[in-house]
Amino acid sequence: MAGITRHVEVVLEGLTIGPLRLTTNLCLSPLAGYTNLPFRLVVREVGGVGLATTDLVNARSLLEKRPKAWKLVETRPADQPLAVQLFGARPDEMAAAAQLVETLGAACVDINMGCPVRKVCQVGAGSALMRDMDQAVAVARAMVKAVRIPVTAKMRLGWDARNITAPELARALEDVGVAAVFVHGRTREQGFTGRVSLDGIRQVVRAVRNIPVIGNGDVTTPEAAWVMLKETGCAGVSIGRGAFYDPWIFRRTWAYLSRLRTGDSTGDQHSDQEIPPEPTFEERLQVMRRHLDLLVEVFGEESACKMFRKIGPWYARRFGPNHEFNRRIVHLQRRDEFEEIVATYCRWRQQFCDAEGNLLPRYQPPPLTASFLAPDEVAEVVSVPSGPVEFW
Ligand SMILES: Cc1cc2nc3c(=O)[nH]c(=O)nc-3n(C[C@H](O)[C@H](O)[C@H](O)COP(=O)(O)O)c2cc1C
Repeated sequence: MAGITRHVEVVLEGLTIGPLRLTTNLCLSPLAGYTNLPFRLVVREVGGVGLATTDLVNARSLLEKRPKAWKLVETRPADQPLAVQLFGARPDEMAAAAQLVETLGAACVDINMGCPVRKVCQVGAGSALMRDMDQAVAVARAMVKAVRIPVTAKMRLGWDARNITAPELARALEDVGVAAVFVHGRTREQGFTGRVSLDGIRQVVRAVRNIPVIGNGDVTTPEAAWVMLKETGCAGVSIGRGAFYDPWIFRRTWAYLSRLRTGDSTGDQHSDQEIPPEPTFEERLQVMRRHLDLLVEVFGEESACKMFRKIGPWYARRFGPNHEFNRRIVHLQRRDEFEEIVATYCRWRQQFCDAEGNLLPRYQPPPLTASFLAPDEVAEVVSVPSGPVEFW
């Protein structure tokens, strides 16, 4: 009990990345195509997130002032603290882009060491950096010299099971001034299959001397976040797809960790009551609506509605029966149409509810489970959004 309380207390001190002090140790992972300004604002408004990051941004495109790259770094004062993730292989370009990011007001700049796209790897960027330690270190060193904000790196455990390079790489990066390392507990070869290796993350925690290591992979519940923290000794947890299922995950996890500290728990066995409940259907609708409104503000109605066609179904995964919603939302064209779709769906959903309007237990979506908490070897527990992301 004393051990667990002390560990939670350390965690509840928040996370410090170089001079940057975060209010919680929970971070939003970059999800290209999803972690844009509207989604970051939604997650921040819901609460509990210590640091949010942009999608990966091509350093050269940023320097060449390409509009798409600049749109990716669009931010607002409410979108702080913000990390901008850059990819590139040339130290001079990455350093210049980091300076640019600093002038735009980013709180820190992250180096992508995970992108598998051939075009990126062929020029030595993304996950290719995990195979070329000298280049990775040269890039990091140049960036650290160029900016005052902390420079961080995000990686997988290694290229494949025979090449687990993350511990050595993390240590080498620390030596040139990298302020924190984010590690997804799978190899590039694994894609999103198999279990997240808590042991693999632990090895990285042990390899560095002082900098925080932030664990990542398959965290979809407050309990999974706590298990990752406890089992690996990592200083924080970064959540990607789990936030898409549930933008409340940061708030719920932070509340859960705080309750563990108050000493109500009886050791490592926590009852379900200690885990804050999932949001109600009405709350989900409210936040989903806010998400759409922010998309309209930032991208304009037409693009926002197109983008929302793939976002809406993620919210609907926790609605219970959702066919009627998904069937229509994937054709969304106008903001006002959304209200009509929701109203029709709510009427349709009544048939699965009791007299108080609550979903009958047999229609409730099954609880989410992290791969590392599942009893048996599983192929994939958390869905992966469609697109060329198999090896992120
Ligand atoms: C659709 C998608 C896009 C992603 N984009 C990026 C990215 O731009 N940069 C990056 O470092 N990782 C990216 N990732 C990897 C995630 O940041 C994260 O490491 C991975 O999804 C595991 O965490 P999770 O299980 O919490 O999602 C992406 C993953 C997905 C599914």
